[in-house]
Amino acid sequence: MDFKVGVISGDGIGPEIVREAKKVLDRVGEAFGHSFAYDEILMGGVSIDATGEPLTDGAIAQAKAADAVLMGSIGGNTSTSPWYKLPANLRPEAGLLKLRKSLNLFANLRPAYLYGELREACPLRDDIIGDGFDMMIMRELTGGLYFGERVTEERDGVMTAVDTLSYNEHEIRRIAKRGFDIARKRRKKVTSVDKANVLDSSRLWRKVVEEVAKGYPEVALEHMLVDNCAMQLVKDPGQFDVILTENMFGDILSDEASMVTGSIGMLSSASLNDTKFGLYEPSGGSAPDIAGKGIANPIATILSAAMMLRYSFDLDREADAVEEAVRQVLKEGYRTADIMPQGEDKAQVTQVGTEKMGDLVAQRISPA
Ligand code: IPM
Ligand code: MN
Repeated sequence: MDFKVGVISGDGIGPEIVREAKKVLDRVGEAFGHSFAYDEILMGGVSIDATGEPLTDGAIAQAKAADAVLMGSIGGNTSTSPWYKLPANLRPEAGLLKLRKSLNLFANLRPAYLYGELREACPLRDDIIGDGFDMMIMRELTGGLYFGERVTEERDGVMTAVDTLSYNEHEIRRIAKRGFDIARKRRKKVTSVDKANVLDSSRLWRKVVEEVAKGYPEVALEHMLVDNCAMQLVKDPGQFDVILTENMFGDILSDEASMVTGSIGMLSSASLNDTKFGLYEPSGGSAPDIAGKGIANPIATILSAAMMLRYSFDLDREADAVEEAVRQVLKEGYRTADIMPQGEDKAQVTQVGTEKMGDLVAQRISPA
């Protein structure tokens, strides 16, 4: 089949890691008889430099015209880059938020999985890691504090800033259904994370999630307060299957979950709406400190491309082949700098750069 992929290379390490993911997609095309046509879309700092805006209407139209969008990363160093002297609505991140909202990408899936080969890179004690862990963070992505009304103004002579956290029942129901749908295909457990002991929005969240759960009797539901969840993620990560949560909590918890897997350079993500369309990007940032050095880990982007094959194109065999190729390369002992073991274990593995890692994965893709 022929697919049209919008590509947002973006800033920092974005172009380097996206290049490797395209290499892998092209190899999938060859091996399985598909073709991927790429349409480059400007977003983030590169778009600011070229057009004065982080995301133009033309760029949104390009994304809408694609079957799915593959993204690298956007943004620069927030203390030194001139992009961060601009008003907030013209900074690189504003482009990403606008894209999420314009395409109605309300469901953000962030898998956090510990590869057996990368136990050494996991900062947790061996007895805490146990048999490892494999969780899916389902983060609501178009509501809550990110998109509520905000204002900074003087009130009675005092500078005051207000951000609004609001959710309606429809927004909660549609993300909850996605969470339960995914849990049904996994280990059948949903942990819904909120702050219902304090927030009204969380109390409504809990009520609607409970209603949705009634439609999924085979899935176990538990509620957890977000502060406790932050603790449980490092105390006993193996307890989690699907974590279902609102935008801001999901932002914070997914970074924490990624760290316990050893490297943010390994984690993919998908942002979906209610069609087959999706935006696929690594969970990590633009890492301006290592940009252009050829050492960034392209695996998260490659695995994001695999999610695109699975969720937007219904190419499950092809997605399996990519994930298997990544596992194989790790098994053979190849590592980028971020996942190199420390000390004497170093001798057992081979350090490679971004491009070589992409080559190794691409070479191992074959129809099963
Ligand atoms: C993420 C990022 C974004 C977010 C930023 C860049 C706006 O941290 O995708 O997690 O907070 O959603
Ligand atoms: Mn984040």
